[in-house]
Amino acid sequence: MKEQNTKNKDFLSGPEILKEMNISWSGKMLEETADQYSKVSRVIPEIEWPFFAPYIKAINILKKDMNAVILAHNYQTPEIFHCISDIRGDSLQLAKEAGNVNADIILQCGVHFMAETSKLLNMDKTVLIPSMEAGCSLAESITGEDVRKIKKENPNIPVVTYVNTSAEVKAESDICCTSSNALDIVNSLESKEIIFLPDEYLAMNIAKETKKKIIMWKGRCEVHEEFTPEEIVEFRENEPGVKVIAHPECSPEVVAQSDFSGSTSAMINWVKDNQPKKVLMVTECSMSDNISVENPNVNFVRPCNLCPHMKTINLENILESLWNKKTEIKINPEIAIKAKQAIVKMIEL
Ligand code: 13P
Ligand code: SF4
Repeated sequence: MKEQNTKNKDFLSGPEILKEMNISWSGKMLEETADQYSKVSRVIPEIEWPFFAPYIKAINILKKDMNAVILAHNYQTPEIFHCISDIRGDSLQLAKEAGNVNADIILQCGVHFMAETSKLLNMDKTVLIPSMEAGCSLAESITGEDVRKIKKENPNIPVVTYVNTSAEVKAESDICCTSSNALDIVNSLESKEIIFLPDEYLAMNIAKETKKKIIMWKGRCEVHEEFTPEEIVEFRENEPGVKVIAHPECSPEVVAQSDFSGSTSAMINWVKDNQPKKVLMVTECSMSDNISVENPNVNFVRPCNLCPHMKTINLENILESLWNKKTEIKINPEIAIKAKQAIVKMIEL
């Protein structure tokens, strides 16, 4: 069907694809998508569902027809996270699962470095990202040339690189890490000194827990650097009994004000296991939305900050990405071989 209908056009938009697939909102669709709606009903008003449901139906049909899987990071919006994705998780879980995918196509709902990681582990597969705007302030803070310079200035010191980096930066590294295994990776290396790139705050948080000397870089997550210890103190005063859990990309001062700090999935599990009456998740906003249905007795206190990069992904550009097979992630094979080694070393540890 797809081949015939796209003969004369290079790129079809979301509404055009829905028309080609003969999918439009109807009362019957409300019944058909009742299960999916129940998972997001606390955060998506019923009046908005007629916009989401046709896209969800179309994406799920195309996914099967094209033998594609959708990987979604924990920061994706609830309709993406709950209604169309096959594999969900933090960066480490997504990287591990990407290595086991059998489908022909991987569509990454997350930022560019995550799609690159999937490609590195599946060089023979098509890896798609719905928006090339989905960057990351950490990944953009450092280049391969920067790493080569740091290594020259600090010879024979192993380089641990956060996965929030380009393939070119990974290729210059000894091993990668994510927020969930950073301390274990640093401690696993024999050297007493470690170059840890590029997240300065994550590096400072790790430095507090290891005996090793950490050489840092000045990268920051633009979402997590916004949180301040003062606002956490203020929230504790205004919301007595609130539990505060923070991502380790926050400053050490913010982490020090928290009851728990961990990767996005570790934060989700902490809420599931502890069932606090009130919780402040010091991270990206979609996290609370995504887990609110499964934790009906937990009151999620804001603030949270939006990641503008994660938020460039939506149902419309996911459908466009699948149908038009755009945009495909490409990595220079020479860089890919070295970058993959750093990822595989991390996964195998
Ligand atoms: P996680 O690995 O904890 O999911 O973090 C990824 C990220 O980009 C957080 O900002
Ligand atoms: Fe990058 Fe921060 Fe967005 Fe995560 S939240 S993708 S680290 S900018």
